[in-house]
Amino acid sequence: MFSRRDALKLSAVAGVGMVLPAQQLASALSDDPPVVTPFSVPLPIPPVLRPVTSSRSADHYEMVVTPATARIFPGLDTRVLTFNGSFPGPTIRSRRGRAAIVKVTNKMSTPAAVHLHGANVAPESDGHPLDTIDPGASRLYHYPNSQPAATLWYHDHAHHVEAEQVYRGLTGAYLISDSETDALRLPSGEFDIPLVIRDAQFDGDGQLVWKLDDFANRKTVLVNGAIQPTHKVKRRKYRLRLINAANSRPLRLALNPASEVIQIASDGGLLGRPVARPEVELWPAERAEIVIDFSKFPSGSNVILENTFNGPETPGRQLLRFEVTGSVVADDSVVPAKLRDLEDLGTPTVTRRIVLARDPTNTFYAIDGKAYDPKRIDLTVKRGTTELWEVVNDDGQYNFPHSIHLHLVQFRVLERAGQPVGEWEAYPKDTARVPAGQTVKILVKFDSEFTGVYPFHCHFFDHSSMAMMANMQVLP
Ligand code: C2O
Ligand code: CU
Ligand code: CU
Repeated sequence: MFSRRDALKLSAVAGVGMVLPAQQLASALSDDPPVVTPFSVPLPIPPVLRPVTSSRSADHYEMVVTPATARIFPGLDTRVLTFNGSFPGPTIRSRRGRAAIVKVTNKMSTPAAVHLHGANVAPESDGHPLDTIDPGASRLYHYPNSQPAATLWYHDHAHHVEAEQVYRGLTGAYLISDSETDALRLPSGEFDIPLVIRDAQFDGDGQLVWKLDDFANRKTVLVNGAIQPTHKVKRRKYRLRLINAANSRPLRLALNPASEVIQIASDGGLLGRPVARPEVELWPAERAEIVIDFSKFPSGSNVILENTFNGPETPGRQLLRFEVTGSVVADDSVVPAKLRDLEDLGTPTVTRRIVLARDPTNTFYAIDGKAYDPKRIDLTVKRGTTELWEVVNDDGQYNFPHSIHLHLVQFRVLERAGQPVGEWEAYPKDTARVPAGQTVKILVKFDSEFTGVYPFHCHFFDHSSMAMMANMQVLP
């Protein structure tokens, strides 16, 4: 389609009366984003947020939610939404047993709700879609950090606009550590790096293009806010915390040249034991911690982290380059053969079937045939009980993928399509992929001390923003 904008561009090009090389002419006529030379920018590491004060039992933080600009393309300012001006937001590093109290001030013109994804929190700190911070207002979120060490992330959750606000930048990593995990001596410090991965569509001016449910056109993938960054690594082990912060893009992460990575953790923390894997599949909101031992690659070599989800044609396939430098260095970090014990969730006393499907009118996405009403309670559960949820993707005919995410608790994935899952999925998780036409069984124990109303939803934000969400009430 030839738009007015294209016409203006064409007349501008024609008006100067010069002959442009075919390629330049093509880019002047298209809305393709500016070109970034692959692997020309260093991998940004989001800043670690410092507490403003600390008491014996808690750290107090302050964040503002604010529009800002990010330098994604050389010489261009891209308008984004941020926590504290950082795209993605700053990393919060907290410790099990020490609460984090975060004061958030909303400097946007729209409401914000901050949700700490994967966390055990009271309902008033959960960022429920209607429990928002008005423009200009502030509120305190209280995170008890009572759960085991894990890679969590925080993001906006304001009703109906979370997909856009997350897309524009409202995400950040939140890492909980604990003494049991410290004792394992996994790679730490500068060798422990969060990688927040998401996709986007940019226009010819390097600005974000937002269109709900337009996953197919988000062809640029960003790692920690940069396009195809590069990172110099020493020849030793690194712990990478992978967070899929994309609205709708599944990732299947692999190294090129092909080499196994060691997965040590998923959403809810450590696996029972490390698992060597040729690739790690990570759908929106899922996390995986992997260890890569770069001592096995020669000095001077490049190792590329790729997304192979859609095969060789995957848009933005090459995500990040590691430049392996120097000789093998002393490395006292270890990946022990055993990481942690799995607690038994008991036998389910309630079985439910949860159906994820596009509404037949094709105007929204539904859970059990209903569009999300943030004021409606869709189901009640009793604190302390174990339930079996059979989550059905009933969109096989359209080939639509979905997923299931529960606030408040970590569950176990038992089986998908009738088959037991790989052990990397059998550990505590808060988000499980539910591919088109598939049924996934999860075992949920409502073992939190908190009760109240919490959402559960598909974590394709394009879908949850289009009503694929529901409320559960945890009763005492
Ligand atoms: Cu990532 Cu309702 O959450
Ligand atoms: Cu969540
Ligand atoms: Cu969905």
